[in-house]
Amino acid sequence: MSAGPKHDPQHVAIIMDGNGRWAKARGLPREVGHQRGVEALRRTVEACRSRDLSHLTVFSFSTENWKRPATEVSSLFALLRLYVRQDLKKLHSEGVRIRVIGTRAGLPDDVLSLIEESETLTAQNSRFQLNIAFNYGGQDEILTACKTLARSCERGELTSDDITLEHFEQALWFGDIPDPELLIRTSGEFRISNFMLWQIAYSELVFMDCLWPDFGEDQLDEALKTYRSRDRRFGGLATESAASR
Ligand code: IPE
Ligand code: IPE
Ligand code: MG
Repeated sequence: MSAGPKHDPQHVAIIMDGNGRWAKARGLPREVGHQRGVEALRRTVEACRSRDLSHLTVFSFSTENWKRPATEVSSLFALLRLYVRQDLKKLHSEGVRIRVIGTRAGLPDDVLSLIEESETLTAQNSRFQLNIAFNYGGQDEILTACKTLARSCERGELTSDDITLEHFEQALWFGDIPDPELLIRTSGEFRISNFMLWQIAYSELVFMDCLWPDFGEDQLDEALKTYRSRDRRFGGLATESAASR
């Protein structure tokens, strides 16, 4: 029997995928799938909070999702607006800190204001952190970090030889957020789609067939159970009890 990790994860990241297929299977417009996806997000935030996790990061709009038809892009933006408007007060009263991670470039002014409002209002909350990856791409994040460090070098604050892993991590948008121990992707796809490329270096990956609108407590528990069965070695050797299997 595997020893499994000593602790449950503190930080779970989720690629919330499959809204469109969920709707298609029911003969409904894709937009309805996205709406049901917001309900799944609400359930999942609650489930994570009640299981004492400290961070949940969700991928809700990728830099590549701009390739979708304009109507779909607008409906995804409309949902972010709706989620923030409907849930911000409640999340704040429950001590949830909200961060929206990604590039601000290309976002409409009212969405920028809502992001600013939710981050500012909840900045002092520390019970639980919800990171919404919106207009986010892992390659974009890494490239932006490289540019930040290059500028520090140009200003003479650093030399290229001085650059450490810590400098690099600090320059990333997720810089001050612990790496996720567990990454879940729903919808049966086995790919990362440009999500948290740097931070998932040693995350346990769990791919589930469930489509995102069907996700909830039971599916989270199933993923946590899978996580507990894994032997995390980080390039070292198996833990003693796992090695004596
Ligand atoms: C995930 O569902 C939501 C976003 C990518 C914004 P999809 O819209 O990708 O649904 P499928 O993959 O087409 O089923
Ligand atoms: C990843 O899902 C992005 C989000 C969940 C926001 P996609 O549906 O965009 O990914 P691909 O196109 O299947 O790789
Ligand atoms: Mg998809």
